[in-house]
Amino acid sequence: MQNNMKLLVTGGAGFIGSNFVHHILDTYPEYEVVVLDALTYAGNLESLKKFEHESRYRFVKGDITDASLVDELVVECDIVVHFAAESHVDRSILEPSIFIKTNVLGTQVLLEAARKYNKRFHHVSTDEVFGALGPHDEPFNEHTPYDPRSPYSASKAASDHLVEAYFHTYNLPITISNCSNNYGPYHFPEKLIPLAITNLIEGKNIPVYGDGRQVRDWLHVKDHCRAIDMIIHNGHIGETYCVGGDGERENIWIVKNILKEMGLGEERLEYVKDRAGHDRRYAINHDKITRELGWKPEIALEEGLKETIAWFQENKGWWQAVKDGSYQEYYENQYIKR
Ligand code: NAD
Ligand code: TYD
Repeated sequence: MQNNMKLLVTGGAGFIGSNFVHHILDTYPEYEVVVLDALTYAGNLESLKKFEHESRYRFVKGDITDASLVDELVVECDIVVHFAAESHVDRSILEPSIFIKTNVLGTQVLLEAARKYNKRFHHVSTDEVFGALGPHDEPFNEHTPYDPRSPYSASKAASDHLVEAYFHTYNLPITISNCSNNYGPYHFPEKLIPLAITNLIEGKNIPVYGDGRQVRDWLHVKDHCRAIDMIIHNGHIGETYCVGGDGERENIWIVKNILKEMGLGEERLEYVKDRAGHDRRYAINHDKITRELGWKPEIALEEGLKETIAWFQENKGWWQAVKDGSYQEYYENQYIKR
């Protein structure tokens, strides 16, 4: 890669995308970033405010399914780093169509432009494409067969297959990363960790789905951004990398840890109806990226959770604005009052 690279970051106003923009602009003084983001309910320009007046950064509001806009932006960049997606499993259960449009069609529109101009393409995907593990199964790795079970994971699986297809069919220089559950700053407060922290600050309870014994492998978003950085610079073309946090925990461990850190008691847990088709366990074996690129997670979960709680306590303005809109109505109706 050259010294000054221009990246097109789709979904750069979302949780992981905005952390990635911070990582790139803070780490590489010569690099330029163009963010393409539709600013759906999950996109927030406040997360990128630091770069508002920075000449190396440009924000374009637009949809990844808009082929002519995508064409204009892809031609001028060196690499597309593709985060834009509908990302919440619960929403995909209620309203699957937009997941197909953005995650499948949107990815194909981007791929088509990348093919036209032969651009490097990195696709950010999820471990949820591999389905659910039993308690004694080996963690997912790059050879695990795809077995998506929610509309969200099915749409991400379809997008992964399209990216692979563009590599095999057109030699498009692609890489894919499948990561586990991220957490950290700028996390939209509909996902478990930011929802739990912000609910507690607001004096509300934490909704625990089912028995709370489901397992996720928590990865700090900053560790994830470092992994993507390594893949776009040194990853092998055509390859997939599994990125995990060595942070397997039951949900109940996570919420009890948050309660303890915030000095609150277990009466603040509210067991609610389980998610339909709830995947029991996800976990990632990250040996390949560790061996080939020298990446490993550096932020221990206990430490990362402490920092994340502090971030949400210190950045009330950021999440209160996000939480008091239509999302709040959606959340109240769907997950508390049943
Ligand atoms: P997010 O929901 O926080 O952000 C998604 C961003 O994409 C938002 O800024 C939104 O406005 C934008 N967007 C949505 N539809 C768009 C469209 N049609 N055109 C342009 N922009 C659009 O998501 P996230 O948690 O930051 O996830 C980023 C990527 O990482 C996604 O592809 C997701 O599948 C993947 N991923 C996330 C996690 C996780 O734990 N959050 C884990 C594994 C993989
Ligand atoms: P989530 O953050 O939605 O991520 P994903 O579904 O992609 O893993 O959920 C993480 C886990 O927490 C999952 O097992 C569902 C559970 N959960 C709750 O128990 N309560 C909640 O309010 C939410 C949002 C999730």
